[in-house]
Amino acid sequence: MKVVIVENYKEMSKKAADMIKETVKENPEAVLGLATGSTPEGLYNELIDMNKKGEVDFSNVTTVNLDEYIGLDGNNTQSYRYFMNNKLFDHINVNKERTFVPNGMAENIEEEGKNYDKKIDELGGIDVQILGIGVNGHIAFNEPDDVLTAGTHKTKLTKSTIEANSRFFDTIEEVPTEAITMGLGQILKSKKIILLVKGINKAEVVRELLQGVITTKNPSTMLNMHRDVTIIMEKEVYELIK
Ligand code: PGA
Repeated sequence: MKVVIVENYKEMSKKAADMIKETVKENPEAVLGLATGSTPEGLYNELIDMNKKGEVDFSNVTTVNLDEYIGLDGNNTQSYRYFMNNKLFDHINVNKERTFVPNGMAENIEEEGKNYDKKIDELGGIDVQILGIGVNGHIAFNEPDDVLTAGTHKTKLTKSTIEANSRFFDTIEEVPTEAITMGLGQILKSKKIILLVKGINKAEVVRELLQGVITTKNPSTMLNMHRDVTIIMEKEVYELIK
């Protein structure tokens, strides 16, 4: 596991964007695994900037996102499809038909999950997967539990996640309580993983991850089983755990 300490959020976003740029330069048809949340927003701004300057061409890439709320369609401003369109896809030269987000409105979520995994496998897998981390150690919507699920599946959000995400909604009651999420088995199949750690409230779970333990109670620790993970961490977080 490679840990890169950065001075600030801007530097984190720039570093992650440079890594994506390199991936796309090496393989213009790369499959990029993308994430939502406040953490990757800066990265997406950097990618938009690079694309506008002609430094990176997304016309042949495919993107797959980690998760989506159940019950929100892509026009709902709280949905992750909307987030991705609004924060990235509408501003770069990606072919929207090659951008995939799990469908939270699917009638049969189990089947949607299976098809999503099949799609990723057919694409040849994810070349580089961007991840954030929850204050409870969740990765995508893989919440701490006794048992984790490998493939894309339906999950219930924990109280801590509902509380954390309520900042994006008018009231906490509006936060969906279920989601469809890529499982850790699928995430760990990615060829390369970049975990972005923004915010000192992530320090505790990241300390455990860096201790090298593996526990379903902190899903981020599953990343200890992957051979190519880069953690980009703000210095202020590192100061708390070193
Ligand atoms: P954040 O969320 O980027 O908004 O902190 C990360 C996550 O919950 O995975």
